[in-house]
Amino acid sequence: MNIRVFRTPSDAGIYAASMLERVITSSERPVIGLATGETVIPVYDALVNFVRCGLNVSHVTTINLDEYVGLAPDHPQSYHQFMDEHLFSRIGIRMQSTHLPNGVAPDLAAECERYNEVIRNHPIDMQVLGIGVNGHIGFNEPSHALITGTHVVNLTPETIAMNARFFSRKEDVPRQAITMGIQSILQAKQIMLLAFGEHKADIIYRALKDGIRTDVPASILQLHKDVTVILDRQSAARLG
Ligand code: F6R
Repeated sequence: MNIRVFRTPSDAGIYAASMLERVITSSERPVIGLATGETVIPVYDALVNFVRCGLNVSHVTTINLDEYVGLAPDHPQSYHQFMDEHLFSRIGIRMQSTHLPNGVAPDLAAECERYNEVIRNHPIDMQVLGIGVNGHIGFNEPSHALITGTHVVNLTPETIAMNARFFSRKEDVPRQAITMGIQSILQAKQIMLLAFGEHKADIIYRALKDGIRTDVPASILQLHKDVTVILDRQSAARLG
């Protein structure tokens, strides 16, 4: 694993965006796996600046990790809206080239199969990942076993509590999500894992320096041959 530590999330975001730029400019049909959440905002801000300075993304396909079950694409807290607000609408990417699970599909099992097919048809060149304080990647939550393909997951009380800050009423916080599975993540040719802030220091240590454990899903990334971990000083504090 290549571990890079930056002074600020904004510096780290520029570094991450330049890694994405390399993938985007070196392939005819680049496929980028994307995440949502606070961590990736500086990455998307930097990428938007690159596009404003001439980076062409018209040939890029994006595949997001996850979406809440029960939130329609136009729901303000849906991951569809997050992506539109922080990236897609700002870089003018064709919506047909962007993929997210449909959280209001009438048949969720069929939706998971459809999404597996999307991933099979578009092998991911570079997967962007954040990490939950409990070690989740995508919404692959700590468990006694990790699931390979796209699946519906019951979010842990910890994740629900973390997500509650985005919803005005506690009862509106989604309890389930559709997430890409661990095998799909590991099949990406390259992976970047980002974490910022002292609240991520402990889980970064456990994910990178402890053994591989299903109750720390991000630790499975130790098995991948091309992972870049992008941190700020606070999240790197326990690495020594
Ligand atoms: C979201 C996702 C999650 C987040 C993680 C960190 O698409 O896949 O795994 O990356 O929950 O969230 P933030 O960045 O808000 O701390």
